[in-house]
Amino acid sequence: MKTRLFAALVAVTAAGAVLAHEGVENETVLARMEGMKELGQELKTLGAMAKGQQAFDADAAQAALDRIAEGAAQIAGQFEAEVVVEKSEARPAIWRNWEDFTAKADALAQRSAALRVTRPGDLGPALRDLGGACKACHTDYRE
Ligand code: HEC
Repeated sequence: MKTRLFAALVAVTAAGAVLAHEGVENETVLARMEGMKELGQELKTLGAMAKGQQAFDADAAQAALDRIAEGAAQIAGQFEAEVVVEKSEARPAIWRNWEDFTAKADALAQRSAALRVTRPGDLGPALRDLGGACKACHTDYRE
């Protein structure tokens, strides 16, 4: 169970490390990539606490959740304009299924806003919940 969770987490955060946006000049694309990168960083903070690489801090964890909720609320605005450039991993399906795409962004916003992390044991379930919301969208809409 634990291994699977961390494998999923690595898959999500490692994508940020690849820095797909190197060489991208379009500002719309850069802004949405930057927003995603920030989501990845917040998830990484929570993951580091879950793994004990970083001391558990309930306030810091809750702040990360708050920032994920704020970031998720911006996804629809960041992707509204249909811009496809070579280095973007965004699939054109986003704009053909706009309602489903924004519903997936809303799901992440709602989940992150609803989660409460008060003790270390809350981190695992929270990460699974969030990771599932990231993956639900990436599976359909990200290369
Ligand atoms: C509603 C859809 C959606 C949700 C929810 C979502 N993503 Fe993304 N994500 C995308 C799309 C689309 C791209 C590709 C954007 C591009 O390359 O133009 C992307 C790209 C990324 C990238 C690569 C950014 C870069 O530098 O190129 C990271 C990292 C990432 N997402 C992390 C996350 C994390 C972590 C979560 C959950 C907390 C999440 N995403 C939730 C749609 C989503």
